[in-house]
Parts: sequence; C-alpha cells; structure tokens
Amino acid sequence: MRIAILGGTGDIGEGLALRWGLDTDHKIIVGSRDPQKARQHATAYRERIREQGGESDIAGASNIDAVGGADVVLLSVPPEYVLETIETVAGSLSEDMVVVSPAVSMSRDDSGFHYEQPESSGSATAIAEEATPDGIPAVGAFHNISADRLTNLDTELDVDTVVVGDGKEAKYLVKKLADEIKGLRAIDGGDLANAPEVEGVTPLLINIAMNNEEMNHLGVRFQ
Ligand SMILES: NC(=O)c1ccc[n+]([C@@H]2O[C@H](COP(=O)([O-])OP(=O)(O)OC[C@H]3O[C@@H](n4cnc5c(N)ncnc54)[C@H](OP(=O)(O)O)[C@@H]3O)[C@@H](O)[C@H]2O)c1
Repeated sequence: MRIAILGGTGDIGEGLALRWGLDTDHKIIVGSRDPQKARQHATAYRERIREQGGESDIAGASNIDAVGGADVVLLSVPPEYVLETIETVAGSLSEDMVVVSPAVSMSRDDSGFHYEQPESSGSATAIAEEATPDGIPAVGAFHNISADRLTNLDTELDVDTVVVGDGKEAKYLVKKLADEIKGLRAIDGGDLANAPEVEGVTPLLINIAMNNEEMNHLGVRFQ
C-alpha cells in the first residue's frame, strides 16, 4: 500500500509516518509544498525508525507528486487549508484512491479550546468529501489522537480512533490501516454525517489535558 501524507512535515503527519513506518511495510510518501523540506523530513523519519531497530520505506515529495500512484491520501494540513490542498492536487487524484481527513476546526479563548463546526459543510471531513472530485471517497479518521503521543515511539499508544465515512470499502481500508499501527484500535463511527461528533471530541481532550497535570497527550479508549 502506498500512503501519501500531505503536509507530512507537520505534527500528526510525522506521528503517523513514524508509526506506519515502524509497524508496517507500507510505502509512505511525505508530502509538502516544498519537496526539499519533504525529503529532509523523510530522511529524519527513517533515521528515527532505524534508532528503534526498524527499517522503513519513507520518501519525500511535493504534495502533487506524493499523490501520484498513492492508494491513500491523508490530508495532514491545518483545517483552513484542507480545501486549498485538495484543489492543488485534484489533477493527480483518481477514483481508486481514498482521501482521509484528520482535520478539526477549533477556536481558543481564555476558557480553552472550542469546536468550530464549519457552517457550510458541517464538518472538516465533509469539506474534504465535497472538495474531492466525484467518485473519490473521503473518510474521517485520526481526529482524537495526540501527535505527541504518536511521535513518542517509546510510548504505547493504547488509544482508539473513530473512522467515519459513506463509502464502505474506503472506510474498511482506512480502519485496516489504522489497526495496523500497534496500540491503535479503529472503531467504525458510522456515516460521514457523524463526523462533527467525532471532531468535537478533540477540543474536549485538549481541555482535559490542559487542566489536569498528569493527563498530557490524552486519547480515547471506548470500553
Ligand atoms: N497535532 C495534533 O495532535 C492533531 C491531532 C488530531 C488531528 N489533527 C489535525 O491534523 C491536521 C494537521 O495537524 P498538525 O498539527 O500536524 O498541523 P501542522 O503541524 O500545523 O501543519 C501540518 C503541515 O501543514 C502544512 N501547511 C501549513 N500551512 C499550509 C498552507 N497554507 N497550505 C498548505 N499546507 C500548509 C505544512 O507543511 P509544508 O509546509 O511542508 O507544506 C505543515 O507542516 C489538522 O487539520 C489538525 O486539525 C492534529
């Protein structure tokens, strides 16, 4: 499987590249607006995995080149750039690909973080679904995982990720890829219409972490 992580130079992209690189044989393409930056990050991720005694297949490329030939395209960019990023790579997307969105729109005030539900589409995941060319499914996943927890390879993850989407096969594929990461369990959260409930958990987790010293890098385990 070939996984393109657009904006894979950022926090959650790094975490998922490291975990897939360490725990699977998938080819990971770290995408960036700047291909040189992407290659530098890919080299650093391979080195991190080597330090853990593993070998990985991680390369870097521009976001557009990363998408070419990918099976799965993860939109690991801030929510406000999801639309623009899809538009940039749209010409390279094809119907046999699955697009994945972990994006969560939030605002912050003195009380903490708050979910900002996108008015037009209802969720960042739905924005991704609407922006992808017809026939290419978008799936929401990895919203409630802390990048710090993912990137600390000495930490056992021991968390769940809720996967939402309308395409059954696409959702199954993303669930499988998530389950392949050790300590991560993927749970079917139903249709794309349920994405706001999943995205809305993220600010709750951050607020709990901010207000409870021993609860850094929180995740969710459904029991
Ligand atoms: N961080 C977390 O713990 C976490 C947890 C759950 C979900 N998420 C979601 O995951 C997504 C990525 O989060 P993150 O924390 O990894 O973000 P981030 O580190 O702030 O940014 C990720 C990457 O986005 C790219 N980027 C920045 N500005 C851009 C622009 N104007 N246009 C296109 N790309 C741009 C950058 O890559 P290049 O400069 O290399 O192009 C950057 O490295 C967000 O939507 C967030 O809501 C994050």
